[in-house]
Amino acid sequence: MRKNIFISLATALFLVIPLTLKNYFFHDKKSDQNNPDSSVIALSKEWKAPDTSQLGHTQQDDLIRYGRVLILNTADFFGPRGSIMPISNGMNCGNCHIDAGTRLWGNNFSMVASTYPLYRNRSGKIETVEMRIDDCFERSLNGKKLPDSVREMKAMIAYINWLGKDVDKGVKTKGSGIEKLPFLNRAADPVKGKIVYVTICKKCHGSNGGGKLKDNGKEYFYPPLWGRNSYNVGAGMYQLSKFAGYIKNNMPFGTTFTNPQLTVEQAWDVAAFVNSKPRPSTNLSMDWPDISAKPLDYPFGPYADSFSARQHKYGPFLPVQQSHKKAHP
Ligand code: HEC
Ligand code: HEC
Repeated sequence: MRKNIFISLATALFLVIPLTLKNYFFHDKKSDQNNPDSSVIALSKEWKAPDTSQLGHTQQDDLIRYGRVLILNTADFFGPRGSIMPISNGMNCGNCHIDAGTRLWGNNFSMVASTYPLYRNRSGKIETVEMRIDDCFERSLNGKKLPDSVREMKAMIAYINWLGKDVDKGVKTKGSGIEKLPFLNRAADPVKGKIVYVTICKKCHGSNGGGKLKDNGKEYFYPPLWGRNSYNVGAGMYQLSKFAGYIKNNMPFGTTFTNPQLTVEQAWDVAAFVNSKPRPSTNLSMDWPDISAKPLDYPFGPYADSFSARQHKYGPFLPVQQSHKKAHP
C-alpha cells in the first residue's frame, strides 16, 4: 500500500517537475514580452565610452591608462598578495564594473564625473569620488581605504573622469549603473535560486561559491560569490535588486543586455540564494542616519515601516513599495 502511494507520488513528481522546470528554465521570449515581469530596456541615446586609443602620451594620458589597469587588475596591486599594499580581498573593481566600467548596464562609470561630489543617503554626507571609491574598497572588496594622496587613487579618478568627460551635468545616460528589474509578486526564493546556481553558475563560481584563482594565485579567474573572500554585507551587491539587476544583463559571463540568458525570476531567485550564504560582516552603525531613506530591499533594520527584515531582504517588495508611496506620495 505504502509502496503504491510512493510509486504514484514518484510518478506525479516525475511528470510535474520537468514541466515546471522546463517553464522556469526555457522561457519563451515571445510570451515574456507580454509578461509584466519582463524587463524591456529602451535605449534612446546610448553612451559610448571613449576609446583608450584616443589617448596620447602626456603625463595625464599615462595616468588615465594606469587607472584603467588598476580597475581591471586591482588584486595585482592591492589584493592579499598585491605589489603595492595588501588592503583588499583579491577581487578586481572590474569584476563588478564590467569592461573596466564601460559596458552598458554593466555597472559602468558613465555618470560619476558629472554627478560627484554627490549627497548619498547611506552615509548622510556629500561624497567625493575618493570617498565613493573607498566605499567599494571597504565593502565590495572587504578591505581598507586607499589613502587619497597615493598616485593610484589619482589614477583611478583620472580614468573614471575621463570616461565621463562627454556626459553633461544633469543628463542621465541610458544604460548607466545597474538595471532596476521589475519586482516579483512573491518573495525571491533561495531554494529555486539554488537550482539556478547549480545549473548555470556553479561551473565557474564553484560549488562552495569561492570562485577560482588564476595559476599565479594572486588574482581570480572566476571571482568568489560568497565566503571570506567575497564582498561584505555592507556592499551594494548584498541588496537583492542590485545583484539581480547586475546578473540579468551580465551573467553567465559573456552575456550583455542585448542577449540576456536569465529570466527576471531566475535573477531574483539566484540573488536570494547567493545572498543567503555566509560572507564577511562589517560595521554598519554609521549607515543611513535617516532610516526612512533606506532602500526597500535594505536587509538590516531598524526601519521606518513595520515590515520584517526578512521581507526587506527577500520580498515580496510590492507591499513595501506601496506603503512607502503612501508615506511619501
Ligand atoms: C562586488 C562588486 C563590486 C566591486 C568589486 C566594486 N564595486 Fe564599485 N560598485 C558596486 C555597486 C553594486 C555599486 C552601486 C551601483 C548602483 O547603486 O547602481 C558600485 C558603485 C561604484 C561607484 C559609483 C558609481 C556611480 O555612478 O555612482 C564607483 C565610483 C565605484 N563603484 C568604484 C569602484 C572601484 C574603484 C572599485 C575597486 C576598488 C569597485 N568599485 C569595486 C559594486 C562593486
Ligand atoms: C562562464 C563562467 C561564468 C558563469 C557561468 C557565471 N559567471 Fe559570474 N562571473 C564570471 C566572471 C569571469 C566574472 C568577472 C567578470 C569580469 O571581471 O569581467 C563574474 C562576475 C560575477 C559577479 C560579480 C563579482 C562577484 O564575484 O561578486 C557576480 C555577482 C556573478 N558573477 C554572479 C553570477 C551568477 C549568479 C551566475 C549564474 C547565473 C554567474 N555569475 C555565472 C564568470 C561566470
